[in-house]
Amino acid sequence: MHKYILSLILLLFLVSCKQTKKTATPVKGLITKNAMVVSARVEASKIGSDVLKKGGNAFDAMCATQLALAVAYPYAGNIGGGGFMVYRKVNGDIGSIDFREKAPLAATKDMYLDENGEVIPEKSTLGAMAVGVPGTIAGIFEVHEKLGSLPIESIINPVITLANKGVIVTKKQEETIKAYQPLFPKANKDTILFDTPWKQNDTIKYPALAKTLERILKHGKDEFYKGETAKILAKFIQDNGGILTEVDLANYEAKWRTPVAFNYDELKIISMGPPSSGGICLAQLFKMIEPFDLNTYGHNSLKTIQVLTEAERRTYADRSFYLGDSDFVDIPLENLIESNYLKNRMADFSFKKATLSSKVSHGNIQIIESDETTHYSIIDQFGNAIAATTTLNGAFGSKLYCSELGFFLNNEMDDFSSKPGAPNMFGLIGAEANKIEPEKRMLSSMTPTIVEKNGNLYMTLGTPGGSTIITSVLQTILNVHEFEMTMQEAVNAPRFHHQWLPDEIRMEPNTFDRVLVNNLEKLGYSINEKDSPVIGKVDGILVLDDNTYEGGADYRGDDTAVGF
Ligand code: GLY
Repeated sequence: MHKYILSLILLLFLVSCKQTKKTATPVKGLITKNAMVVSARVEASKIGSDVLKKGGNAFDAMCATQLALAVAYPYAGNIGGGGFMVYRKVNGDIGSIDFREKAPLAATKDMYLDENGEVIPEKSTLGAMAVGVPGTIAGIFEVHEKLGSLPIESIINPVITLANKGVIVTKKQEETIKAYQPLFPKANKDTILFDTPWKQNDTIKYPALAKTLERILKHGKDEFYKGETAKILAKFIQDNGGILTEVDLANYEAKWRTPVAFNYDELKIISMGPPSSGGICLAQLFKMIEPFDLNTYGHNSLKTIQVLTEAERRTYADRSFYLGDSDFVDIPLENLIESNYLKNRMADFSFKKATLSSKVSHGNIQIIESDETTHYSIIDQFGNAIAATTTLNGAFGSKLYCSELGFFLNNEMDDFSSKPGAPNMFGLIGAEANKIEPEKRMLSSMTPTIVEKNGNLYMTLGTPGGSTIITSVLQTILNVHEFEMTMQEAVNAPRFHHQWLPDEIRMEPNTFDRVLVNNLEKLGYSINEKDSPVIGKVDGILVLDDNTYEGGADYRGDDTAVGF
């Protein structure tokens, strides 16, 4: 009898252990043998994949995908914005490029404040004053020149064809255009293409953008920064009350940067350094959580959520204080990601009770960032990988649309701290690192990331989502590495986010268990399930054991994997 009970207990124990492992058939994304592109729109993924099929490499496909997103996904894809790309070549070389916008020469620290020192609503978000100097065209020409292999015609021509032929409106696109339509007349003097009540299955054609791309193809990068396009663009922005000049455009340069690379278990994680906060914050997060046995706690269990939340709280407090454009401010990068420092940061964490953000320095601002960036991941048939995240900042950027050139302008200036220098609750002066200065790049959260496992390419991923980008990338990597999900399952899994201030865990609504939410509240955590219907739209590619690729394209958007 005793033996029988023991066997029963053992059986129950094994069954309960098994519950943390997957029992149902795994949900898998597209599997390909040779190459893959995953992006926010099927048209862009297809153009990127076709470039690879023609014999181009991941860098050629990056240029094509970026430009195609400017056509097919004007919500965030762009040539009027900027972004970052991280790469890993087949020989293991890694690098990254920064084509982030920068502040115009005439920008000043207080340009968004009124005479009482208060932030003027919408000045940094809507219309011409919000526009930073766009970096995308400089970025793609730099990538193509240094790392591409195909002639630029074979990259840009398919995008011109797409712009002339037009793009079919999806249901989600119909909804987003409709949602933002009330803002377009506020930013534009005249009617724009997107004032039309576009419906699902309509085709939007982009002849003006096609013409701009034709000129860029003919005259190269200088067309955008010094040529006819530059002249039209600077005049257009000034006519609409902005400060960006032809000199700003002529001065713009994309910059190659050393990526942030760090280890977690047998993984090496390679991500974007300043002026993005992504890489440093991701390194802080992974190192703070490394001592905890997440795999045993289980995916999205009480303990896992506590560990991640407390690490996020501390990381975002540091972000707000220390990070900015490293060309302008000294960032103590080595110290910030040093193991002992991070161990000490977590020393006061207890599973018994939430830490209060008011007890965690540094910083004095809430991070309010727009969610409407976009990400694409590519692995080519040679084994090169890229992760690129690119943005106009807000949905359709500043909403200012240059009809003559056929594209939206960013509102990236809003990613600066508009009102730095006020002492925080600890008397510390925060956000100075990200104050506005002429020609400075605004701090970003974009986190294009490549992961190696035991020295081999393992994953490329990233996401839009403003400040939630970093925590979405973290959770997706953990979902694969700790919780043994497929790439698609890792992308699909419900996500949550904490960013120090406001002191709350944001959760995707109706995706977390009620008992779990109650238990978190009992421990002192505030839960917000209202404000973030979607946290991130992760697009990634996982290298499987048999060296095929699995795409994870986020169902939260129209994201699609295409490959061969
Ligand atoms: N504008 C969003 C970001 O750069 O993180």
